[in-house]
Amino acid sequence: MKKTLIRGRLLTFLAEPRAVDDHGSYVYEGDGALLVEDGVIVASGAYAEIAPDAGGAKTIDHRPHLLLPGFVDAHAHFPQMQVIASFGTELLDWLNTYTFPAETRFSDPAHAARIAGLYLDELASHGTTTAAVYCTVHPESAEALFAEAERRNMCMIAGKVMMDRNAPEALTDTAQTSYDDTKALIARWHGKGRLNYAITPRFAITSSPEQMEMAQALAAEHPDLHIQTHLSENHAEIAFSQELYPDCTDYTGIYEAYGLLGATSLFGHCIHLSEREADALSDSGSVAVFCPTSNLFLGSGLFDYQRYRRREKPLRIAAATDVGGGTNYSMLRTMDEGYKVIALKGEKLNPLASFWQITRGNAEALSLDTRIGTLEAGTDADLVVLDAHATPAMRLRMETVETLAEELFVLQTLGDDRAVVETYVAGGAVKSRL
Ligand code: GUN
Ligand code: ZN
Repeated sequence: MKKTLIRGRLLTFLAEPRAVDDHGSYVYEGDGALLVEDGVIVASGAYAEIAPDAGGAKTIDHRPHLLLPGFVDAHAHFPQMQVIASFGTELLDWLNTYTFPAETRFSDPAHAARIAGLYLDELASHGTTTAAVYCTVHPESAEALFAEAERRNMCMIAGKVMMDRNAPEALTDTAQTSYDDTKALIARWHGKGRLNYAITPRFAITSSPEQMEMAQALAAEHPDLHIQTHLSENHAEIAFSQELYPDCTDYTGIYEAYGLLGATSLFGHCIHLSEREADALSDSGSVAVFCPTSNLFLGSGLFDYQRYRRREKPLRIAAATDVGGGTNYSMLRTMDEGYKVIALKGEKLNPLASFWQITRGNAEALSLDTRIGTLEAGTDADLVVLDAHATPAMRLRMETVETLAEELFVLQTLGDDRAVVETYVAGGAVKSRL
């Protein structure tokens, strides 16, 4: 494959920025370049230093735009694209009224393939290059998403949802079929291209103890795999979960009892955790996934991001859209709402920390940081190009912006897919080709 030299204002993070003036936490090159070959960044730095070694590389000049690692979305449901903007309910009614009926359609491979393609198009147009995705109970839905992601050479995490109760008949498997189908999907897709399989028991309400044992068996047989589920999103959900598992001390204790906590375990929401539950997540290295647009839309509650980060036993945190409880595909819109949730908790999240979170921070939380989330040489060339002057309102606001952190905050507060000039997956431009 030919080499490509991608030129722009490079921004990549080294560590979590502790303050808006934490200049040691990132690398910024006002005139930077990435040399890309076979989908990998082979050199990264100042244009003047990289260009002489670029041979006959084709140059793509994105100046004056910013060039960052592609965004990472740590929790989303691709079968819920037609559920976004469903009015008037909280979590359990929302699932029963809108979400479960929509998910029923994914037994049809043609429907699953159509929505999988449209979902990955939305990711490309919003600058997201990796997501941890829930499919439906139907293996066909996972087949469709993996096949489409493989065709696009994307680094994705996904799994067929395991759910064997408290849902419509058309949307339930059994403990045994959930095990068998998951096994077959792991064998077929995990490690193929850039794909990762996630063991995906939907949540304690829809999994019987027998199915939780199957999830435990799968996790024991495949300790390197991700596990994704939901935890402590809504008070009615918490109460029902405790009724269903009366022997467990609390909601987190249910997943703990089945050996599902650990460094590759991703727990969506985690809003109403007790100190004991937060300690259990921290001790096991589990990840709490912050889904602000969803938590606000469904009225679920306010995730205490700064307390979780700063407690004696800090939590690993990822940020996510949770489409379609979440209301936008954009990680910029997600962090804008995240900023407001954190503000309601009396804290502020600085813009450098925000952009760290949706790039390197999320890559670390998903244990994918050796491959994605930075612009370091040797990692995959998944990139986003951002224009802080994309709209009249942004252009006007940018007239008074003086620092990089201010520019990032404009992008987060006023930006959306219009601010995404280009998205690269494994070195190939994908947004402009939609
Ligand atoms: N809990 C169990 N399933 C879901 C889902 O699809 N969305 C959200 N937000 N919470 C859930
Ligand atoms: Zn979810």
